[in-house]
Amino acid sequence: MSRVYACFKSIGAYAPKKILSNSDLEKMVETTNEWIVQRTGIKERRLASESEFTSDLGLKAAKTAIKRAGIKTSDVDAIICATLTPDFLCMPATACIIASKLGIKNVLAFDVSAACSGFVYILYLAKSLIESKLHKNILIIGAEKLSSVIDYTDRNTCILFGDGAGAAIISATENKNEAIMDIQISADGDYAHLLVAPRSRVMYPKDNRTLEYLQMAGNEVFKAAVKTLTTDVVEILQKNNIFSSQIDHFIPHQANLRIIEAVREKLNLPHDKTVLTVQKYGNTSAASIPMAMNDAYEEGRIKHSDLILLDTFGGGFTWGSALLRFGGK
Ligand code: UT7
Repeated sequence: MSRVYACFKSIGAYAPKKILSNSDLEKMVETTNEWIVQRTGIKERRLASESEFTSDLGLKAAKTAIKRAGIKTSDVDAIICATLTPDFLCMPATACIIASKLGIKNVLAFDVSAACSGFVYILYLAKSLIESKLHKNILIIGAEKLSSVIDYTDRNTCILFGDGAGAAIISATENKNEAIMDIQISADGDYAHLLVAPRSRVMYPKDNRTLEYLQMAGNEVFKAAVKTLTTDVVEILQKNNIFSSQIDHFIPHQANLRIIEAVREKLNLPHDKTVLTVQKYGNTSAASIPMAMNDAYEEGRIKHSDLILLDTFGGGFTWGSALLRFGGK
């Protein structure tokens, strides 16, 4: 029997209409447009409306991804959603809500919690499920309503994050030239306390802090992010005998322009091959990579069989990277 590969068949995304600009934030907390742009590269971010939930954002991205894959909704045989802001804290999973809104029944649907690394984590799962021949067309979604866990009086965090969603169809193929080549993911829970979003009032056991909103030790996360994002890429490129000059598109997690630039320079990746959306969406956690990829796709930059490198880092700590040939049109 011939070997089956996982193909990144399509990309879609949705950004809520409402824009929260740096000048809006200047009126809310003690900050300036100059500080935000200099330290993060962010100029604006999107906010979902009160009645728009993570599943609504994910649904819109999913519809675009399904359409672009050229499949019917009924062809989707698994749905996996990565989010740190699910509609409901414990259950039902946001993936189940999206499945219902799409009219898809009787297929596997569940959420994954891996913070900003969520999209690469679910890509890894989808690849494994396709290669094991258990599924043929998997809908993966990274969706976040981060505004629901942000304290808009805390200037350390409220300037960074935004809402949005991205989705992709991962399908079975026998053509190695349009396959996801390799994905590596990992985590180190010893650093869990540095980036925490409890959503409801909980006690974080390590130092007895009572938390309600997202909190981050920005500086420590920054240093760990630059180091891990770089070593992770060096490893995956070496493992697959790929030189950075062969990469057509570098799509890193969009957390901070300074982090992206530091990693890009260390890896010797050219500026024009690096996809940047942090300036307009801020950090959208699990949605950040697919939203960036969608922008590049809609600009006509990403073509069939282009070699794409994904690289991410987030709370947990979690991290991951992926090397893939784009399988869409
Ligand atoms: O997505 C998951 C991964 N997340 C990340 O990778 C984010 C990583 N961290 C970062 O991006 C950066 O650490 C931040 C953007 C959060 C902060 O930038 P920084 O260069 O690390 O600044 P800092 O935290 O060292 O703060 C420098 C100064 C401080 O004042 P003092 O102590 O020097 O007087 C802060 O109080 O900047 C102050 N500050 C601000 N000033 C104006 C902090 N936030 C603001 C603000 N506006 N919004």
